[in-house]
Amino acid sequence: MAKNSIYVCQSCGAVSGKWAGKCASCEEWNTLVEESKTQGGVGGGPKKKASGAGRTIKLEKLGAKGIEIPERLVTGLGELDRVTGGGFVPGSATLVGGEPGIGKSTLLLQTASTLANRGKTVVYLTGEEATSQIRLRAKRLGVMDAPVDLAAETNVTDILSTLRKTQQPPDLVIIDSIQTLWSDTLEAAPGTVSQVRACSQELIQFAKNCNTAIVIVGHVTKDGQIAGPKVVEHMVDTVLYFEGDSGHRYRILRAVKNRYGATDEIGVFEMRSAGLKEVPNPSELFLSERNSDSSGTVVFAGMEGTRPVLVEIQALVAPSHLATPRRAVVGWDQNRLSMILAVLDSHCALRFGTHDVYLNVAGGLKIVEPAADMAVAAALISSLSSVPCPAESVFFGEVSLTGAVRSVSHQGARLKESKKLGFKNAIMPKSKVKAGDKKSGNIRMIDHLTQLTAMLLTEGAG
Ligand code: TYD
Ligand code: MG
Repeated sequence: MAKNSIYVCQSCGAVSGKWAGKCASCEEWNTLVEESKTQGGVGGGPKKKASGAGRTIKLEKLGAKGIEIPERLVTGLGELDRVTGGGFVPGSATLVGGEPGIGKSTLLLQTASTLANRGKTVVYLTGEEATSQIRLRAKRLGVMDAPVDLAAETNVTDILSTLRKTQQPPDLVIIDSIQTLWSDTLEAAPGTVSQVRACSQELIQFAKNCNTAIVIVGHVTKDGQIAGPKVVEHMVDTVLYFEGDSGHRYRILRAVKNRYGATDEIGVFEMRSAGLKEVPNPSELFLSERNSDSSGTVVFAGMEGTRPVLVEIQALVAPSHLATPRRAVVGWDQNRLSMILAVLDSHCALRFGTHDVYLNVAGGLKIVEPAADMAVAAALISSLSSVPCPAESVFFGEVSLTGAVRSVSHQGARLKESKKLGFKNAIMPKSKVKAGDKKSGNIRMIDHLTQLTAMLLTEGAG
């Protein structure tokens, strides 16, 4: 038997001939698990002898007439449809990842019920909860009457044979979660790489053959990866992450891979006592509790995909008693903060060396755009000098290592959103502004951080 065993890393999926305490590939400890080679596991599977002549496959024309392009399943949850690129594509597989308790099951039950109410056939399969628990949740969400088919089942072979026997394959199948599924062709325990991979493979095969959209829930490990294998991410068409922290009511749905749409879109939801509610205008939500006349806070006019989102950036610069002062960041990149601090130090003669610096993006949003550089710089200057930033102003612009401020994309959209939310001033990079955008209030163009420093320190909250 020993000869037929292989060892599979549960973290990265690497295969090794012998056991070791540490995976040679991803360097994780205690992740190698013994699996049988002959059971169709990793590195196993049926091996047929090549028979020489293969079957002739039929080639099709890309633009052939009369070929229907399948219509997407529009869920009616606007924020979800935005992230998937306009609804689920029939025959596609979508992986929804997120930490436990973030609201994945809630989101998918709401999706299932809205689609079912629109006349689509939806099957919701859970391996995590009993059907009575799902009913309880449905009651809480007020969707008890939706004609969703429900089952608590974990055997993928039984699931697929049931689905194949239905008169017409369902439009949407929801699997909650992939880590609870197991296939009896494998000996490995549910949740192991081989099981997760084999079950996903079978589900995706079913989706492609029957033109059913499949949504698979995947748990996330503590370092933010979908538990076990990254392999599933490669296999599916779309990977969505549902994130947010338990201290906030907001939940953000983000596409990290999408074969049928853009990956930079986000959907914003609010967790209420009666389920998830869409937030069509996130800016209002992110700015709702803002206190504009204290120092160290500015409003950044950002973009999330095609949608402008205004967020508050807060900085606290305080004298430090430590030999190496602290630099703590929530919602932004630590290295980017170090860069901005260095630029302010060398080009604007602002000294942060003896200060602790804390930076926070309010509302739990994570910003990745370099366009936030100037807003961060403004918050830092304001906090260091205890001078509030000009009222009713938004900031955006990328800062280079020389201290120059560079223009960014979608400036018109940022200005428009700012005006819509009542911000009269925009502090932005020097660039050509279209006549239409000029009307968007009072625009101050800045081409170097020294100008920003001078403006903030001399004018203050004026
Ligand atoms: P759930 O969807 O079970 O999370 P996941 O499937 O990602 O593990 O959501 C659980 C959390 O959501 C739980 O902490 C309670 C909260 N919740 C509400 O606040 N309101 C609701 O209507 C529901 C159903 C859940
Ligand atoms: Mg769940």
